[in-house]
This record gives sequence, structure tokens and C-alpha cells, in this order.
Amino acid sequence: MELLFNCKLSNFFGTTLNSITCKCMLFLLVTVLILRALLLPPLPAAFDRSLSLSSESGIRQDKFLEVPQIVWGLNNQKIAFARACLTARLMNRTLLMPSLSASLFYKEVDLLQPISFDKVFQFDKFNSLCSGFVKLGRYSDLLNRTEVLEMQKGSGRKWTMERDLDQLRQYSRDPFDQYEVIRIVGKNPFLWHDHWSVKDYASVFECLVLVDEFSREADRVVSQIRTIGRSVRGENDKSSISLQPLPYVAVHMRIEIDWMIHCKKVEQRLNTNQICSSKKEIMERVGNLRNTVDFTTPVVVYLAVADKLLNDSSILEGWEEGFLPYEKKKLGVEGIYSKYPYLIQSAIDYEVCLRADVFVGNSFSTFSSLIVLERTQKMIRMGVSSSDMCKNDVRWPSYAYNIAGEDSNGPMRWVSNMSDSSLHAISYGTNHISC
Ligand SMILES: *[C@@H]1O[C@H](CO)[C@@H](O)[C@H](O)[C@H]1NC(C)=O
Ligand SMILES: *[C@@H]1O[C@H](CO)[C@@H](O)[C@H](O)[C@H]1NC(C)=O
Ligand SMILES: *[C@@H]1O[C@H](CO)[C@@H](O)[C@H](O)[C@H]1NC(C)=O
Ligand SMILES: *[C@@H]1O[C@H](CO)[C@@H](O)[C@H](O)[C@H]1NC(C)=O
Repeated sequence: MELLFNCKLSNFFGTTLNSITCKCMLFLLVTVLILRALLLPPLPAAFDRSLSLSSESGIRQDKFLEVPQIVWGLNNQKIAFARACLTARLMNRTLLMPSLSASLFYKEVDLLQPISFDKVFQFDKFNSLCSGFVKLGRYSDLLNRTEVLEMQKGSGRKWTMERDLDQLRQYSRDPFDQYEVIRIVGKNPFLWHDHWSVKDYASVFECLVLVDEFSREADRVVSQIRTIGRSVRGENDKSSISLQPLPYVAVHMRIEIDWMIHCKKVEQRLNTNQICSSKKEIMERVGNLRNTVDFTTPVVVYLAVADKLLNDSSILEGWEEGFLPYEKKKLGVEGIYSKYPYLIQSAIDYEVCLRADVFVGNSFSTFSSLIVLERTQKMIRMGVSSSDMCKNDVRWPSYAYNIAGEDSNGPMRWVSNMSDSSLHAISYGTNHISC
């Protein structure tokens, strides 16, 4: 199946490369953060949820926004969903729970298999975590289903960011504002103009918690990885099972043929050779992690790959000593995945990568980028300061294998720049990755 294949679309939009050195950027960031800490004692909302919790009355609960079905890969759907939430927030409306899509057919709209949001993510949990920031409503909350105003999003070259924003503002005023429901018609929200910062997106992503059924499946996969980790270390004996869960590395390998064709084109356009990593390069760089991370080897390396697309068992061969590669088949968890449609398989894999002790991905992949964004959020929540985030001994470290680290030819340390003003920089691929 097209597992992990979802980065494809968004990766078509490359970004410009930044030539300023990382050290300089880091210095700037630190300076800005120090100044910010001195001048503005309260932290911005994304860093402190209690701030948004306190404005409980924030979003109107009697006015709604309806959006078209959300389609394509897991990441595209997450971004589109967040964009719909933020649009509703701008209009001070509750977002009517949208349909996601279980399958991954780009063109055949009738094959898109709508799946209700609350079949995948916890509805009440979403509203409680995002309380005061954005709100989801149900169709049963509507008083009058006929009182709907349609709002046609423009398209084409002339439909600029400014015009789009003007339209949203116009519809937030009377007489339009009176309508109980405003229904946006036209393209899937992923294709709308984007008016929001990385922090705003991160605040929405954080409220997305998988329903129990699927998070339990992720638990099963993670537990299988850790069990194998224990046995390869010869810790079969129950008495030696430490309370500390056994660490594992997750690697999101993008080496499918069509990805390679696509990424070579992007490399050409951007005049760089830091996008397409071969199998060999990935294995080498991940292996060199041992020079920077304090590993106890052997360590299990979970390979998040589109197995079925790849059909190549050689990804299991050639790893450095002490790095034991496992994909779904070798782990014995194929059965867990095969029960589910594409979207759910992808969501489970996402969880497994999110929870990995070390994550290594490709900085031009949206899937990898969203994982690093969430892992960065996790570090912020744990109180890791920006200046420490790139250090080697920090928890939840992430790396990009497509860029060589500063020393030892390992992968480059990677954290998301939470102060970026647009998701574009982190979601459509970059090799400017903040460490
Ligand atoms: C939304 O409307 C409510 C009630 O009118 C108001 O209290 C709140 O400040 C508004 N929120 C935003 C984000 O504009
Ligand atoms: C619903 O709204 C329509 C259009 O505004 C109106 O004609 C109709 O009477 C309303 N129905 C109810 C039950 O309020
Ligand atoms: C994938 O591999 C299996 C077994 O190795 C083989 O039977 C099958 O034909 C292969 N499929 C493709 C698309 O190459
Ligand atoms: C993060 O993004 C902000 C805004 O674009 C920029 O000013 C800053 O230099 C970036 N920081 C790093 C470390 O890249």
C-alpha cells in the first residue's frame, strides 16, 4: 500500500535555500529569545497552553464553518485540517467536524472513502486540549440546517493571499456574520492560501490524539520493537527487565523509485545535492550516530518504509554493526497494519516514529517534518530551552539523514523553528533545519 507515500504532493513545492550559516541563525534565535524573555514575561500561546485555556469563552459556539472533505495523505490531511480550524478561528466560528479520507486516491474523488474525524482522532479530547483556541462542533449542534451561506474560494493567479484574507474578513462581518453556517466551497483546504504561523499549526496538531483503538495498535508495535530490543541484548530473563523502556531508533526511509525521480528533479531545480539520500548514505549516516549519541548497542532500528511499494528486502542488509534493522514484516506486525486503510496505517507509523527515542528522517519529507515539529513541541513542554535543544544529550532528538552533520558524517541534528512565520518553510522541504 501507499504507506508513507503522503509526502509526495507537498514535496512538489520546493523552497529556496538559505545560505546564512546555522551558527549565525542559532545565535540570532538565542538573542531573540533572551530579549523576548526579558521584555515579555508571558510566553506565547503555543508555549503555554494555560494561556489559551484561560480564554474559554474564545470561540462562538452558535456560528459554524463547514469545509470540503479533507483529502490525500495523512500529512496533507493534518495540515488541511489545521488550516480549516485556523480559518474558523479567524472567523470566530466553530468548525463543523469535517470528513477525512481513508484512502489515497488523488483523482478518483468517488474512491476517496470519507471517514469521520472522530473515527480517527478523539473529538472531546480535541476540544478540551484546544479549548479557547479552536473548536470543533457536530452537525447535531446546528439549530437550523437550512440557514447556510456559501462562500466560494477564488482560484487562479489573481486570487492572491491578500484577496483571500480580505474575503475571510468580509465574511466575518455583517450581514454574512449573521448566518449560522458558512460553507466554504471549492478546493480542499490544503490548497487554500495559508495565513498562519508554525506556532498556530503546532497548537492545533497538539490537540490531535488518536482514538484508543489505533493508539493501542501503535502501543503494540512499539512494545514489539522494545521486546526485540531486549532479546537482542540478551535480556530475556524477566528479572533483568529494567523499568527504563528499551530505546529504539526510527528511520523514515524515502528511497522509493518515484520519490527518487521526484527528488532528483527538486535537487536540480534548487541546485543542491542534499535531498536524495541513497540507501547506502542513510545507513552510513545513521550508523555514525554512535559517534554523537550515547548508545548502548545493539539497538533496534525501526524502518518506516513504504514496504509494499519498495518490495526490496535489501534495505535490511548493510547496516553498521550494532544497528539491527526491522521493518513491519520482520517485526511480525504486518498483520496489525494490514487490517486498516491507508490513513490509519500511516497514523500508526507516525506514532511509532513520534515515540522513538531517536528519530531520523528526510528534511524534504512532510511526514518527517511534522514528526520533528511534534518532537520539538515535546521538548519545549519538557522545559528544554532553545539553546539546549540541539545538544547531544537531550531527550527526543531528531536528525535529518539527507544533510551531513557538522562532525563525524552522521546525520544533521534537526529541530523545528517554532518562530517561523509560515508552515511552508518546514512542510514543503528545507535543508535549513535550525541546528
Ligand atoms: C469571538 O466572539 C466572542 C463572543 O462574541 C468574543 O468574546 C471573543 O473575543 C471572540 N474571539 C475572537 C478570537 O475573536
Ligand atoms: C431556518 O432558516 C430559514 C432561512 O433563514 C428560515 O426560513 C426558516 O424559518 C428557519 N427554520 C427554523 C426552524 O428556524
Ligand atoms: C515483490 O516481492 C514478492 C516476493 O519477493 C514477489 O512475489 C512480487 O512479485 C514482488 N512484487 C513486485 C511488484 O515487484
Ligand atoms: C527561525 O525563524 C525566524 C523567523 O523566520 C528567523 O528569524 C530565525 O532566524 C529562525 N531561527 C533559526 C534558528 O533558524
